[in-house]
Amino acid sequence: MQERIDRLVKEINAFSGKGNEEAEQFRIKYLGRKGEIPKLFSDFKDVSPDQKKDIGKKLNELKQLVLDKLEMIKAETGVTDSRSLSIDLTLPAESVQLGSRHPVSIVSNEIIEIFTRLGFVISEGPEIEDDWHVFSALNFPEEHPARDMQDTFFIQKDPDILLRTHTSSVQVRVMEKQKPPIRTISPGRVFRNEAISARAHCIFHQVEGLYIDHNVSFADLRQTLIYFSKEMFGEDTEIRLRPSFFPFTEPSAEMDISCKLCGGKGCNVCKYTGWLEILGCGMVDPNVLDANNIDSKEYTGFAFGMGIERIAMLKYQIKDLRLFFENDVRFLDQFKSAF
Ligand code: DAH
Repeated sequence: MQERIDRLVKEINAFSGKGNEEAEQFRIKYLGRKGEIPKLFSDFKDVSPDQKKDIGKKLNELKQLVLDKLEMIKAETGVTDSRSLSIDLTLPAESVQLGSRHPVSIVSNEIIEIFTRLGFVISEGPEIEDDWHVFSALNFPEEHPARDMQDTFFIQKDPDILLRTHTSSVQVRVMEKQKPPIRTISPGRVFRNEAISARAHCIFHQVEGLYIDHNVSFADLRQTLIYFSKEMFGEDTEIRLRPSFFPFTEPSAEMDISCKLCGGKGCNVCKYTGWLEILGCGMVDPNVLDANNIDSKEYTGFAFGMGIERIAMLKYQIKDLRLFFENDVRFLDQFKSAF
């Protein structure tokens, strides 16, 4: 082995070829698949253990010698790659295909932008939550059906760890950290154990709003929602508040906007009612304030929550919720926006 190495070192040092062609032959002779150096490496296993260290080092030096020699020949030839001769630098560049923002992001950003104009600041919370933040601190009774396995994805029972079913949990996270005045908007992903269809999905997005201060009233809530609706859907948009129930707000309401498509006359999108349901809202239940160490005798607040896909479906007249999650570029490509 030692002799073979010595012979090759001499041979390589003596090599005086020039040009790309000879360099390539030189490379194949020594480094090619069946070349001298790979052969030596494969015979290396037969070298006796006490010689391995020494021979191994020499083999590596030999390989480096070949590489250095090749570099030298290429440098002398002045061309590193024959292909580079055929590159035409005056040709126009290939166009780069720009992606587009996902419609859920566009609408989410637009909602956030409208509320930040009113002084709301963004807050976020974890998607993997516990029972306290999703249910208990929001005044859900022990036996409430939303706590059921049928609606909620549980990761662990006792203590309960689960995927949040709504972004209202972020309200609790904010109240834990911050004292009033609180004016926050919380976008995020939520999870529900639902069969996937054109109208429902097990993953979707919500935006939650929360405002707590001295003397916050239902009139403030209404005015905020009117402003939002007109900004989002156009100046001529009307809203209507219908009494409803949520454990964490009292009184609670659901808000509809006048149907954009038929102008309130009735069509198949608004199911001939002239109205489209947009969000849930209400005055923060005093129990929720107290559970989060905010004195309900001193402070009041309002909250609201809406599904982002739902708003996007109305805005862009999309009939099937599943389109948002399939990531078909033919669908996504149609959304271009400043947001
Ligand atoms: N969390 C509710 C839901 O998931 C939405 C909601 C309703 C949020 C009323 C609120 C509210 O803050 O006040 O359907």
